[in-house]
Amino acid sequence: MMVNKAIFPVAGLGTRFLPATKAQPKEMLPVVDKPLIQYAVEEAYAAGVREMIFVTGRHKRPIEDHFDMTFELEVALEQAGKRELLEVVRSVKPDDMECIYVRQAQALGLGHAVLCAQRLVGNEPFAVLLADDLMVGPQGGQGVLKQMVEQFREWRASILAVQEVPAEHTKRYGIVAGNAVNEQLVDVSRIVEKPDPEVAPSRLGVAGRYILTPGVFHEIANQPRGVGGEIQLTDGIAGLLRREKVFAYRYEGKRYDCGSKEGFLQANVELALAHPQLGPGFRDYLQKLDI
Ligand code: UTP
Repeated sequence: MMVNKAIFPVAGLGTRFLPATKAQPKEMLPVVDKPLIQYAVEEAYAAGVREMIFVTGRHKRPIEDHFDMTFELEVALEQAGKRELLEVVRSVKPDDMECIYVRQAQALGLGHAVLCAQRLVGNEPFAVLLADDLMVGPQGGQGVLKQMVEQFREWRASILAVQEVPAEHTKRYGIVAGNAVNEQLVDVSRIVEKPDPEVAPSRLGVAGRYILTPGVFHEIANQPRGVGGEIQLTDGIAGLLRREKVFAYRYEGKRYDCGSKEGFLQANVELALAHPQLGPGFRDYLQKLDI
C-alpha cells in the first residue's frame, strides 16, 4: 500500500490575507524565497508521492505556471552561464513528478475541494496537504508527511496530523478525541469541526496534513453542509470513522499557520534565520534593530 497521490486544495478565498490574496492564491505567497505551495509539494515528494493533484479556483494560472517549464527563463539563465539559478528553476518540478489540475468552480469548502479530485485519485489511499500550513520537520529528521506515510504503512488506515492547541483556539480546528495507542498515536473515536472550547472533546487539533482511504469520498458526498455552510472534510472523516479505523498522529516538527498574517511573519523570520546563506546576515540585522 503506497501513497502515490496527493491533493493540494488551493481554491480557497484566503480572506484572512486580503489584500495580498485579492488576485493571487495565498499558496503563492513566498516564505523567504519559495512560495508556500512549493514547500508542500517538496514535502510530498520527499514522502514518496509522485502525482500532485491541485484543486484550483479562479486564480489558477500562477500555480500552473510555477510548476511548468519556463523555457525563456531557462534559455536566458543558460546563456548567461547562471548554472546555479538554472538548477534552482529546474528543481521546482523533478522529471518523475506529475502535476494535474482540476477546478473547483465554487469554494464550497475543503471537503468539496477534496471531492473534486475523486476521479483522479480513484480507489487508492491518498494524501491531502494544505499548503498554508507550512510544516518543518525536526532538524535532521523526516518531513511530517513522510512520518505519516510510515504510520500508514504500519496501520493501513487513515492518519490525521494533530497537535495540542490552546483551549481558546479549538474554534479554529477540527478537534479529535479517542484512545491513546502509544505516545504519538490516538485511535480516533470522535472528530468535530471548530468546536467552542466548552464543548471541545479534547485539545488535539488537526493540522493540514492527512492520509485518507478512498472510502472518505463516499462519506463527503453524503454529508449535509457543515460549519459555516461549507462541505467539511472533517464531517466526511466523521462518517469514515463509523466504518474504518482512523488514527491521529502527533507529528514531530513545527507548524506555521501561514493562512494568518502572524503565522506567515513568524515563518518568514524563523526560516530566514535558518537559511544557510541568508541566516547569519539576517540574525545580525535583527540584533541591531532597536526593539
Ligand atoms: P481555509 O479554511 O484556510 O479557507 O482553507 P480559505 O478560504 O483558504 O482562507 P480564509 O479562511 O478565507 O482566509 C483551508 C485550505 O482549503 C482550501 C484552501 O485553499 C486552503 O488551502 N480550500 C478551502 C479550497 O480549496 N476550497 C474551499 O472551498 C475551501
